[in-house]
Amino acid sequence: MSKCFKGKYAVITGAAGGICKDTALCLAERGAAGIMIADLNYEKALATAQEIEDATGSRCLAFATDVSKPADIAALFAFTMEKFGAVHILVNGAGVCPTTKLEDLDAEKWDWCMNINLRGAHLCCREAIRIMKEQKYGRIVNIASMSYRVGGIAASVSYGASKGGLASATKTYAKLTAQDGITINAICPGLIMTDMTRNNGYSADGIPMGRLGEPRDVSTVIAFLASDDSRYMTGCTLDVNGGMYMTM
Ligand SMILES: NC(=O)c1ccc[n+]([C@@H]2O[C@H](COP(=O)([O-])OP(=O)(O)OC[C@H]3O[C@@H](n4cnc5c(N)ncnc54)[C@H](O)[C@@H]3O)[C@@H](O)[C@H]2O)c1
Repeated sequence: MSKCFKGKYAVITGAAGGICKDTALCLAERGAAGIMIADLNYEKALATAQEIEDATGSRCLAFATDVSKPADIAALFAFTMEKFGAVHILVNGAGVCPTTKLEDLDAEKWDWCMNINLRGAHLCCREAIRIMKEQKYGRIVNIASMSYRVGGIAASVSYGASKGGLASATKTYAKLTAQDGITINAICPGLIMTDMTRNNGYSADGIPMGRLGEPRDVSTVIAFLASDDSRYMTGCTLDVNGGMYMTM
């Protein structure tokens, strides 16, 4: 396997489990020098970091981060710079998928989802871009969702809106950083089997490929966007959904 991430340091939020754990593994398998596993669930993040480090030899550290707390995000990037001295790659994957009914979606519940899925990702982009501009190099991948494309499936209004906001913000960041050696793209996964979706009763009905997605179906596309193979792409939103929704 190509070691295309040799010498590269990554911060991945939400990487204790699911799509982003596999993304961390994928980058480590391809030679990443170091990966910061940032997650609300610190115990799980620690176990994930150890597991990936043991399996690949990449240096993996865990950092307890609640992306809805600006101070946690500042601390995450300060810690990463202290330990790694660079941030070449950021993957914004920390997310929640509420299924709150419209009539129950009050201001507090709306803000909770937005503060994690959208504001948290924005503040991570802001920290990373500051570092990446100085490096004159960076790759950012924001995990949006097919929910934004189709107006939600089982998720609440706030979920699709947060992911649509993130896909839109991705384009603006991309324009603002295109001269600085930085690319910023988004990805819209379809139905992927993780803790987020496992008990939601999703089936393969309506998926042309005839199966639900696995984290590796998504992590390899994130790895492509985090690599130099995608160096002339910025502000793009890629769909990874087994053919369930196709954009023009
Ligand atoms: N699974 C799917 O079908 C699917 C589809 C489209 C988009 N996505 C998106 O992919 C990303 C990864 O989701 P997943 O399916 O791997 O789910 P997951 O639940 O396995 O992973 C999400 C991770 O985010 C962490 N997290 C939650 N709140 C946090 C916070 N405030 N601060 C830091 N970390 C926090 C969780 O602890 C968890 O480890 C999410 O952004 C999700 O919205 C998933």
